[in-house]
Amino acid sequence: MFKIPVLALSAALIMLTGQSVYADAEQRRQAKRIHDRLTGTPPSEVILSEMETRLIDDPTGKSAAEKALEDPAFYNVTLKNFAAPWTNEEQTVFTPLNDYTATVIGMIRDDIDFREVLSGDIIYTGNNSPDYNNSNNAHYEALENLGPEIANLADDNVLTQKIQSEVTLLDTTATAGVMTTRAAARAFFYKGTNRAMFRFTLMNHLCTDLEPLKDNSRIPDRVHRDVTRSPGGDSRIYLNSCVGCHAGMDGFMGAYANYELEFDEVDDVVTENTAHLIYTPGTVQGKFLINENNFKPGHETIDDSWINYWRNGQNALLGWSNGYPGLTLDEKGHAIGNGAKSMGRELANSEAFAQCQVKKVFKNVCLREPGNTADRTEANKIVTDFKAGNYKMKQVFRDVAAYCKGN
Ligand code: HEC
Repeated sequence: MFKIPVLALSAALIMLTGQSVYADAEQRRQAKRIHDRLTGTPPSEVILSEMETRLIDDPTGKSAAEKALEDPAFYNVTLKNFAAPWTNEEQTVFTPLNDYTATVIGMIRDDIDFREVLSGDIIYTGNNSPDYNNSNNAHYEALENLGPEIANLADDNVLTQKIQSEVTLLDTTATAGVMTTRAAARAFFYKGTNRAMFRFTLMNHLCTDLEPLKDNSRIPDRVHRDVTRSPGGDSRIYLNSCVGCHAGMDGFMGAYANYELEFDEVDDVVTENTAHLIYTPGTVQGKFLINENNFKPGHETIDDSWINYWRNGQNALLGWSNGYPGLTLDEKGHAIGNGAKSMGRELANSEAFAQCQVKKVFKNVCLREPGNTADRTEANKIVTDFKAGNYKMKQVFRDVAAYCKGN
């Protein structure tokens, strides 16, 4: 009811004066929107006017967004909720702070090349007691319970970068960023065949599940023995469906051959919430051999080697990199390697990885997927800048918030 007369009045004033007397109102709105979207909280009057001034000097909104990124709530609220759903199979945000989430928050805060998230010997811990424990999450729950007034995750004296292998005592070669955090192990190396780690890594960091990647023309020689070749007595189902995922996926699976989640005994009881990651170099975990009688001539995992069959065929569209350090290709152009670290590098250097980070931030900040042509053009530009700028996630948040500032 009020909108029409106000707009009409402002239009009249623009006609009279040749410029909008509401220009500052526009920048104020944009400043407020940028701040709300990045931090979940309204800005103080002081911050709001500083952001307004920055919007006048730099109408792209990037400088104003940088101001909002200084707010501790960006770390304590926005980033925590951004990463939390990646750390459990239910993909819920209602899960306590853990080593996976804390590491993502810290890496973004400290502008670490985000590709390291799948391969780095890196972890973030708090300055609180109890200390980090391989077997439970008590350290992070205590940190979170202190609350941001006392334990502000924006402060690097509170949340501190550490060498993962020094904190967890895992071999440094066995570390693979968040994949070898306790939280990821608890969620995705739990029972099963370790394929869940691969599936959720794809969903969380390449923004795709397996279904769209089904390609039954890939070389099936790595499909494990547990996958029956004639489900329900019908080999056509295997050839048309099962192999579509398992040829490519099982090719990667050797990377996780030496990892397992081991349950601890507490007071003589084995509990699932007190479990730790184990790594057994040279010894393939028993879970890789379960149900081997389903198809005895199938692939037997004998070491931690992996191969990326998706470099050829339709999934070349994921945009595999031909030029990162450590990349090894076989004679057919498939990337090959040993262990989770090199496999993490293969995934994180793909175009799909870079696009996925931008897509996730876009959804988080703009509250929608990049939809129309303008959105997609801008998202592509932000991906290009993200890669050119050494994969700094804060830059992505800045650029996306600036784009979605409204008018
Ligand atoms: C859309 C991709 C896809 C297709 C198609 C598919 N699988 Fe799988 N399969 C997976 C994934 C992902 C997992 C790991 C699931 C998990 O542990 O979360 C899996 C796990 C398995 C497992 C191990 C189960 C366990 O105990 O963890 C077997 C056996 C298996 N699949 C057989 C088959 C057979 C037989 C078919 C065809 C009828 C088939 N799969 C089709 C993706 C697929």
